[in-house]
Amino acid sequence: MNTEPITTEHIVRTFVEYYEDRGHHRVTGSSLLPPPGDPVLFTTSGMHPLTPYLEGRPHPLGRRLVNVQRCLRTTDLDEVGDTTHLTVFEMLGTWSLGDYEGPQSLGWGYGLLTEGLGVDPGLLHATVFGGDERTGLDTGSLEVWERLGVPVELTLDDNWWSNGPTGPCGPDSEIFLWTGDTPPESTPTRDDRWVEVWNHVMMRHRRLDDGSLVPLPQRNVDTGLGLERLASLLQGRPSVFECDVFDPWRRLLPPLWPLDESSLRLVHDHLRSAVVVIGDGVRPGNTGRGYVLRRLVRRVLTVLWRDDPSRELGDLPGELVRHTLDHFRQDTDPEEVVRVLCDEERRFRGLLERGRRVLSRPRFQGPLDEEDFHYLHDTHGLPRDLVRDLRSR
Ligand code: ALA
Repeated sequence: MNTEPITTEHIVRTFVEYYEDRGHHRVTGSSLLPPPGDPVLFTTSGMHPLTPYLEGRPHPLGRRLVNVQRCLRTTDLDEVGDTTHLTVFEMLGTWSLGDYEGPQSLGWGYGLLTEGLGVDPGLLHATVFGGDERTGLDTGSLEVWERLGVPVELTLDDNWWSNGPTGPCGPDSEIFLWTGDTPPESTPTRDDRWVEVWNHVMMRHRRLDDGSLVPLPQRNVDTGLGLERLASLLQGRPSVFECDVFDPWRRLLPPLWPLDESSLRLVHDHLRSAVVVIGDGVRPGNTGRGYVLRRLVRRVLTVLWRDDPSRELGDLPGELVRHTLDHFRQDTDPEEVVRVLCDEERRFRGLLERGRRVLSRPRFQGPLDEEDFHYLHDTHGLPRDLVRDLRSR
């Protein structure tokens, strides 16, 4: 019996070896910044850097690929703080570039989870695309799950995956793991104790600007599994913030900045993400990627300063910056990362001071209307959220 502890490293190794044994070649993960011309700001999924190959260009390593890709999802920003979402996370992915089909992919996925990683098959549930006027029921996936004895729920929108408004897309089949204390019950869309762990997309279509679908030149399978989420489940931890990659954070941050659990999660998530984003070369700004970074850092500071305005990012333990850069295989100088964080902190402090001065004027003592918000934003650079926050203190 395999007694190796289920660390994230162990999961990555098991995953990659399992697929290498089945003829897949490992591709090196890319940075969070998609290539120029790509419509999205950040890499949001493992398939992202592989888009040209899903669209038919031959990949130099062949038709079966496996990788570990860092991803950033701002759509999940407001969900951060719950038990399953992170802004930056690692996605384990596999691809069939016009090689094997969905049923094979699901069969291997089931094998890896149950035999490779020891998940109890009785705790699994699947969802499958139920079919609409353009694309029929995904019978291939349904049959695999029925054969394996895994219960299936059919859905429409939840089982269609696309990479942004245009581009490669297709029906998917998602694998959920039961996290409740009772025996499994209900279905994934009705009970959120079913947590999604792995998505297998039958990527066979391309959506055009006018919304229509055309077949891709080849029938691909694209799968993605969130590493930290699976790790926390396999490690029996109650949230992603308690899986082993956060161990140094939980050891070093709370003694420095005592915070309640939800604030701590936000600070851990956003600071770790800010380090990675800076590590990939982004600097704070008012638009695009720079604005995402600015929001991450300012949200952290807002939380930190709620209890104690003297807290400073310069106190962030260097070990956490180094640990994060190492974990994501980035060779940026940790001191440079801290310098960027501290510069942004200075700018934000200045803005808050100006905000307080402006808001103390008689004009802003009563309720604010749209015109006031516009004026505060355009003339004094004070965003609406910040104004609200300053006035609520
Ligand atoms: N590209 C798919 C996802 O990100 C696998 O869920």
